[in-house]
Amino acid sequence: MSLALGVLVSGSGTNLQAILDASQAGALDVDVRVVISNRPDAKALERAARAGVQTAVVPHGAFETREAFDDELIATLRRHDCEWIVLAGFMRVLTPRFLRAFAERIVNIHPALLPAFPGTRAQQQALDYGVKITGCTVHFVDEGVDTGPVIAQRALTIQDADDLDSLTRRLLELEHALLVEVLGWLAAGRVHVESRPGQRPKVRVRPA
Ligand code: GRF
Repeated sequence: MSLALGVLVSGSGTNLQAILDASQAGALDVDVRVVISNRPDAKALERAARAGVQTAVVPHGAFETREAFDDELIATLRRHDCEWIVLAGFMRVLTPRFLRAFAERIVNIHPALLPAFPGTRAQQQALDYGVKITGCTVHFVDEGVDTGPVIAQRALTIQDADDLDSLTRRLLELEHALLVEVLGWLAAGRVHVESRPGQRPKVRVRPA
């Protein structure tokens, strides 16, 4: 089953590029139906256009409320028949309305081992704290900031010589591989969320 994907971006779009490359190489069964940016200058839009993928700009500043912004995102995603949503460096917090529209079908990539270092500047937070291991997380999106059920994580060791640039670069490499891998699991229908009363929902991935 090919995943009909909408990808939301705000910036450089290297994670988007990883998805596009894997899809083009036939290594990932997804159909990126539209790439939406809240910023007109996002480099990710050029990457999408170069790959022949439709793009849209929904500038958050043009909307009076977060709900109105989300309504326009939802309408754009529906117009392109998107079933799954990937937040790939999308720097806005979505409202419950958006989460309901694509319930349990929104995934985010975060450059830290959640629940450590949620929010922005996760790489700098890890360096400032002095942790020796960090990594990246792909998770389902819920109403909190980077709090949704974890699907998968990859770790790396922080070297004494690491600075923000080197750590960000090394994490991005891990992110690209992990995001593509998880989308493959989703496309294969291998990912399930188990909910038990009084517990956090847990993600289980069926063996291939
Ligand atoms: C990545 O580090 C991602 O984890 C975070 O924002 C960054 C986006 O990078 N959410 P890119 O736009 O995919 O290059």
